[in-house]
Amino acid sequence: MDRPNPRILPYGTAAIAEAAELIRAGGVVAVPTETVYGLAADATNGEAVAHVYAAKGRPSFNPLIVHVPDRATAETLAAFDARARALADAFWPGPLTLVLPKRESAIAGLVTAGLETIAIRVPAHRAMRALLEASGKPLAAPSANASGGISPTRADHVAASLGGNVPLIIDDGATERGIESTIVREVFGSTKILRHGPITTDMIHAVLAKMLPHGIAHEPHLERFDASDDEPDTIEAPGQLASHYAPRKPLRIDAPRAAPDEWMIGFGPTPGDETLSASGDLDEAAVRLFDALHRADASDRAKIAIAPVPDTGIGEAINDRLRRAAHRD
Ligand code: TXA
Ligand code: MG
Repeated sequence: MDRPNPRILPYGTAAIAEAAELIRAGGVVAVPTETVYGLAADATNGEAVAHVYAAKGRPSFNPLIVHVPDRATAETLAAFDARARALADAFWPGPLTLVLPKRESAIAGLVTAGLETIAIRVPAHRAMRALLEASGKPLAAPSANASGGISPTRADHVAASLGGNVPLIIDDGATERGIESTIVREVFGSTKILRHGPITTDMIHAVLAKMLPHGIAHEPHLERFDASDDEPDTIEAPGQLASHYAPRKPLRIDAPRAAPDEWMIGFGPTPGDETLSASGDLDEAAVRLFDALHRADASDRAKIAIAPVPDTGIGEAINDRLRRAAHRD
């Protein structure tokens, strides 16, 4: 049976007004953020949040990020300590999600999937900010792709992945960062990176290091999640699942050259059918990564190969996504 196509409206006053009306009526809307497109719903409306899980086919144990306009609103939903405040002030609005102890609030229980913590972020993108303002609601928004699939960086990726499960997509072109937000958990004085992203480990270190008492030289207490470790016993951020962000075709990483049946994605000196960045620029590579995987999936080749990408800066987040995309259960 054919699913109806979603409406795709260019970003503007009319699109935002229509989207805000849908949100207030308990519906879902796909909207760009600076990282990837999100599938937004009123986070205080349990039924609306259930629609998000259903549209993605997401297991309900996997909690959602709540988007709010500013830190003051975030502080009504979660308990901030000094380090959480420092990170928020340094990187909000922007591609950082903080996982913090949850406060009693109007957020629907389904958003946090029964956890004692809540994931919050203040987005920078004009479309998401306009929707927050026009709807007047905190917005629960996971990436707008079917569960386990590649995150969408353009409106047509959303339409291809979710089809008629989403009635309205606001199109504001390709996203600026191309990769999902960095997730940092700050609970009981311990800081841990749960998902690598555009805010790099070094950037987080730099902020936390400034908070130490003068003259005491020791490392800020920051546990690093190493994607090469064994899987954690409990899922702290299901982006940690070994197989995630997966294209439909087999993906070979760290490939110096392509086999005849492979669509080759190059980087820097390693050429391909296309390249993440001919000049070896990692920010550009992050922006192009998911788009390249979508294209590789749609190509006439049976398999995908991708050149080595250095593991520095945002390269850490890129390699993390690539390992999961290459993993087969
Ligand atoms: O850039 C982004 O973060 C995008 C845009 C739309 O904001 N959103 C996004 O959402 O990537 P999603 O649902 O695809 O990924 C959110 C991750 C999931 O892996 C989820 O398990 C984790 O955040 N998460 C949410 N709440 C959590 C919590 N309380 N504790 C630990 N992890 C949590
Ligand atoms: Mg996702």
